[in-house]
Amino acid sequence: MKDKNNQRALWSSRIGFILAASGSAVGLGNIWKFPYVTGQNGGGAFVLVYMICTAIIGLPLMLSEFAIGRNANLNPIGAFNKIKPNSPWIVIGIMGLLGGFLVLSFYSVVGGWTLAYLVKSLTHGFDSFTTSKNAESIFLSFTADATETLFYQILFISISIYIVLKGVDKGIEKICDILMPTLVIMLAILMIRSITLPGAVEGLKFYLYPDFSKINGSVILIALGQSFFSLSLGMGCLITYGSYLRPQENLISVTVYIVIFDILIALLMGMIIFPAVFAMGMEPTEGPSLVFNVLPVIFKKMSIGGIFSIIFFCLLTIAAITSSISLLEGVTSFLIDKYGWKRKNAVLITALAIFLFGIPSALSFGLLENLKLANMTFFDLINNITSNYLLPLSGMLTAVFVGWVWGVEKVQKEIENNTSKSRWPQIWIFLVKFITPLALAIVFLSNFF
Ligand code: TRP
Repeated sequence: MKDKNNQRALWSSRIGFILAASGSAVGLGNIWKFPYVTGQNGGGAFVLVYMICTAIIGLPLMLSEFAIGRNANLNPIGAFNKIKPNSPWIVIGIMGLLGGFLVLSFYSVVGGWTLAYLVKSLTHGFDSFTTSKNAESIFLSFTADATETLFYQILFISISIYIVLKGVDKGIEKICDILMPTLVIMLAILMIRSITLPGAVEGLKFYLYPDFSKINGSVILIALGQSFFSLSLGMGCLITYGSYLRPQENLISVTVYIVIFDILIALLMGMIIFPAVFAMGMEPTEGPSLVFNVLPVIFKKMSIGGIFSIIFFCLLTIAAITSSISLLEGVTSFLIDKYGWKRKNAVLITALAIFLFGIPSALSFGLLENLKLANMTFFDLINNITSNYLLPLSGMLTAVFVGWVWGVEKVQKEIENNTSKSRWPQIWIFLVKFITPLALAIVFLSNFF
């Protein structure tokens, strides 16, 4: 393993790192997925479980990934090999990179859809979205159109390539410095519009009032999976981002900021969707097409609705791009560290491979919709393997590695690096040694029953 310790770029500032890592975390998971899984799983009660999972399982794991990355100063595979040379633990890194590759292959398909809808909103393409049913049939025929979806998928990947080519501080950090505040402003505008709609209160009630009778085993599993996906855990992204972090940075506080930011964006997104859905007399249980089918119709019915569509799909695209670049950077950093490839070659070849592998996912809604593997379309299969198996497995192994193998004192030293001692590392060690692996083992095993 080549250690290019001194030649690696670093985040130029603490806030730059926080924005980039938040950019990775805040994505389609928060804006597209969170509202619809909340809608399908009972509203307020789900939100509560989701927040608890994030605090006691997601947060300790995020801190672990940052600690591994910063300590080793390397990509996910190199990092495990450096901390425990020639041990089987390297498999976590391999799984992470493979998982990152797979996630991006279908993420870029949905990213392409968001770009297409942004273009539609800019070109009056929503004029025909008169009812939610109508919007649904347009969505179905759009996602079934091979040429159009592949075109937007390429466009989406090309934007990610462009940013990652420029490198860590000049590309990723710089773009997130601009895009993340933009995203927050757009979100605030939409939220004010949504909660001031007549009839919005019903939506807020559904969303914020926890009905505990709705909590069951499957709700908890879904909440945990959602929390993982949303925080970008288990796929080496955060190990990679942590590896560009300066040693003097306090890991605990940056992690807490990023987690709070991620939760806040998801919560605010709910405040946009549910009041609007209820105000327009629509159903919150629509599923994955919720934001695509419901929002354009709602926006069309509002006065100057066109503006809000543009803002919304712009926000969705920004969120998707800042996450996609973290997935691309993970794989790229491995090729650069390990084989000494030039960034340009590493990025282009990785992105090309991801695009090619993503083609069957893009076609899963049209040409290949009848191609079923294990009873699922290719898109669903990859989505399922990564979210339900690779992610919890790699998360569990990471927690075991950090809590039991690496050595608690060493990890504690890494996270406390030059910062004042507090009680937090103790709490974190308890969580990462016992609670996180146990919870993840349950999630992982429950997939088989
Ligand atoms: N967290 C992002 C989102 O919410 C997606 C993402 C980026 C991701 N990197 C990841 C998901 C790594 C799982 C693993 O959309």
